[in-house]
Amino acid sequence: MFTSKSQGVVRQPILEDVSEHYSGAAIALHWLTAALIVANLSLGLSMVALPISPRKLQWFLVHKWIGITVFLVTCARLAWRWYRPVPPPVAMPAWQRRSAATAHALLYVLLLVIPISGWVYSSATGVQVVYLGLVPLPDLVPKDKALAAVLRTIHVTLNFALFTLLCVHVAAALKHHFGDRDAVLARMLPIVKPKE
Ligand code: HEM
Repeated sequence: MFTSKSQGVVRQPILEDVSEHYSGAAIALHWLTAALIVANLSLGLSMVALPISPRKLQWFLVHKWIGITVFLVTCARLAWRWYRPVPPPVAMPAWQRRSAATAHALLYVLLLVIPISGWVYSSATGVQVVYLGLVPLPDLVPKDKALAAVLRTIHVTLNFALFTLLCVHVAAALKHHFGDRDAVLARMLPIVKPKE
């Protein structure tokens, strides 16, 4: 650990010890998930507004493929997390540590449950999911219009919860970086530049 003094101000470096950094795979999987989630939330919102057309159907297919990919990437991420545990938390008040751990656990649950809710919803509408147009997935429930309406509400609500939680998550990361000037964000970035 080192500190530097300039004009009488003592500053901590943003990242003190590279062993506290997330592994390359964890970082890659985090940002891949972030890109997929932003793409799929945008696609999901845009496609429902389209009139019935071949483009709308194509966007639905891509939305489902991205959703299943999020599920698979999250499984890979959790397996990697088990194999290679994450670095110990950065020093911060205990309530912030507990809140971050709870938010991360909830994010993982949503990243697994939302794709499954979409898959069940698709089955209830009578449309089989064919991953990447190549791998047919089994229907999880029989076609049922009333059930489909309930599942749609569940899928939309879960996505709303994900969006809300992500806003808090990003705000917390930015607050740590620019407000507290600690290593929370830096250790999740692919390029580390210790600042003085
Ligand atoms: C958009 C979709 C995103 C999802 C689904 C997501 C999800 C997650 C999850 C589940 C973790 C826990 C990692 C672990 O310890 O196992 C995490 C960590 C983290 N995320 Fe995100 N994230 C997203 C976007 C972002 C963005 C945009 C930022 C920055 C502006 C960010 C900053 C961070 C940081 C700094 C950590 C590490 C926190 C720590 O070390 O305690 N994330 N993210």
